Amino acid sequence: MGDELQIHKGLDGVYIAESTICKVDGAVGRLYYRGYSIGEIAENSTYEEVAYLLIHGRLPKAAELEEFSKRLKAERDLPAEVVRIIQQSAGKSDPMDILRTAVSYLSISDNEVKDQSYESNIRKSIRLISKISSIVAATGRIADGGVYVKPDSALSHSENFVYMLKGRKPTKEEIKPVEMMFMLQAEHSTNASTFAALVAGSTLADLYSAVTSGIAALKGPLHGGADEEALRMMYAIGDPSNTEQYINEALAGKKKIMGFGHRVYKAYDPRAKIIKEYLLTLQNSSSEEVRRLTEIALRGEKLMIDKLGASHGIWPNVDFFAGPVYISAGIKIDLFTPMFAASRIAGWCAHVLEYWEDNKLIRPLELYKGQIDLKYVPIDKR
Ligand code: CMC
Repeated sequence: MGDELQIHKGLDGVYIAESTICKVDGAVGRLYYRGYSIGEIAENSTYEEVAYLLIHGRLPKAAELEEFSKRLKAERDLPAEVVRIIQQSAGKSDPMDILRTAVSYLSISDNEVKDQSYESNIRKSIRLISKISSIVAATGRIADGGVYVKPDSALSHSENFVYMLKGRKPTKEEIKPVEMMFMLQAEHSTNASTFAALVAGSTLADLYSAVTSGIAALKGPLHGGADEEALRMMYAIGDPSNTEQYINEALAGKKKIMGFGHRVYKAYDPRAKIIKEYLLTLQNSSSEEVRRLTEIALRGEKLMIDKLGASHGIWPNVDFFAGPVYISAGIKIDLFTPMFAASRIAGWCAHVLEYWEDNKLIRPLELYKGQIDLKYVPIDKR
């Protein structure tokens, strides 16, 4: 390799664009959506408002938020074919596969899919934000043996999600964690799924194609799938007293502990702090299972920070404490990553729309290390 040529494995340290959507300050563990710290957002906002903020670039006035929420509500119901896809596969297939297929199918029923005007892409963003939540909720409900419940336009985005999932009016205890997770996972700069969406978007493929690419990339355990893996690890640990031995053995075997580490954060992920704080507020009211999972999580957190925190920059990330919180809300494990998608859809749309304002095809290079000018050998002579 020549001196001037440098390979950035995993695109580590490569900037691909300017953006005003999200700042991740990995050195000190801070996160901002359009300039507002994630702490301010989590304490004061709602998912609808966060989606507006990400897509339109500023907080809405009351009438604007009301109009935006009305448009979201109007888009919640699913085409009959999409409900059929869910009915045929829920409980048998991975909900992320169902989601990817259903979103891809949504484009077939959208007659403005090819309209690349800004107004049309805003309409499609609203449609996707609404319908992805409905797809995820319907998938969870049908997998549990329930029937498709039509959305209720009297409810907020998160309330309606829980209503469509459970088929009954949700409790405050069920809505709070869903609203919090929806806000915390809505956006995170050029993470793998957003980048995947940008790559597809940069070819000027439509928004559905971009979002389907994002969902595909989110599924993996190194990205969105880590929330499910972290909880599976806690179940495998079983009893809090096994935590230290389990983690020590995993690390000795060079295994990664899911829910820790991040490409950008070399400090405590601020979202994980908020989720942990919330989890601690549940201590007196939660089930024995949630208390046990919390104890395992706290022991695991301490051990990992002692071993790898300051020394290696490996801290808890957004996925580590999410599992016990979801379990406290009665949400099953294989819905965690689809819910991540139902939240991140706002960030994906905001980024693709922003990138299209000054589009450039994303096309990196690779350094070819194979042979050249080989002589073609006929098949019977090889
Ligand atoms: N447990 C143990 N060791 C780890 C971990 C971990 N969770 N994460 C990184 N390391 C070690 C890794 O083994 C490597 O060690 P060495 O240099 O000795 O080979 C070193 O740290 C660098 O790791 P890397 O994987 O090369 O670094 P990266 O910047 O590509 O890592 C990561 C980012 C998220 C892929 C990685 O930390 C990881 O696999 N974490 C577990 C999966 C996870 O929780 N993912 C969710 C990320 S946050 C939410 C999201 O964006 O989806």
